[in-house]
Amino acid sequence: MPIESMHPIGVFDSGLGGLSVLRALRAELPNERFVYVADSGHAPYGERDDEYLIHRSGTISRWLQHHHQIKALVVACNTATAAAIHVLRAEHPALPIIGIEPALKPAVAKSKTGVIGVMATPSTLKSEKFQRLLASLQDQARFVLQPCPGLALAIEQFDAIKTGAACATFTRAMGTFGIQTGDIDTLVLGCTHYPFAEASLRSGTGHEVHYLEGGAPVARQTRRLLVKANTLLTIEPSNSGRIDFHSTGDSRTLALAAERWLGIADTVHDLEI
Ligand code: DGL
Repeated sequence: MPIESMHPIGVFDSGLGGLSVLRALRAELPNERFVYVADSGHAPYGERDDEYLIHRSGTISRWLQHHHQIKALVVACNTATAAAIHVLRAEHPALPIIGIEPALKPAVAKSKTGVIGVMATPSTLKSEKFQRLLASLQDQARFVLQPCPGLALAIEQFDAIKTGAACATFTRAMGTFGIQTGDIDTLVLGCTHYPFAEASLRSGTGHEVHYLEGGAPVARQTRRLLVKANTLLTIEPSNSGRIDFHSTGDSRTLALAAERWLGIADTVHDLEI
């Protein structure tokens, strides 16, 4: 087994949302170590332009490589993936880089009514990458696109009132949810923060609607790329399951979220980059 197998996997998001991807990564790859960066000091990303997103993604990726010698990078943010993944891949050609995109293809396979709701940040929905994906599937279903400005920030701030109000406004704007003809029966959560608002979203959509998030497919793809690179950890090292948390914002908020949502009570380090 190459020595590189012992190195951690880097994971980053604009903030807390990437924890929904980290949860899936830990389930799929229980032996691996992870370094998680929440760029909460610069969140939300969802209304930023490409130049800014490329700059932040590049800064975080370089820090993960130089300080942690990561063996793979997971961009646990739909917005950063859409704007910057091609630049990251060009800058680090030898590093396996896994991004996340709204789960439109699985939604087409899942939907019975053929009406699919997509909630995401304004930047993701406007991006060329998303528009290409949409165009490739447009003849197979009707997609109801809903930009959700402010929702990721409300979740980031643990603001239950704002989160509830935003979920109510956005689900109402999308139309009728359910399993009858013409109803939206499948909802794509196209931002990694949104799974943490599921209870509020359910108030607007009801319980019959199928929700799709991208964490599990990303975790499976990460495993595939590690196998291909021959860097998957096949033994359980003594520091297995360890996660190094770093936040460019309030580290206590990340600690609280990791404990509440993932049941992990690890130390969070302040990061100034
Ligand atoms: N969690 C991110 C995503 O998946 C971005 C949220 C934000 O910072 O606006 O798009």
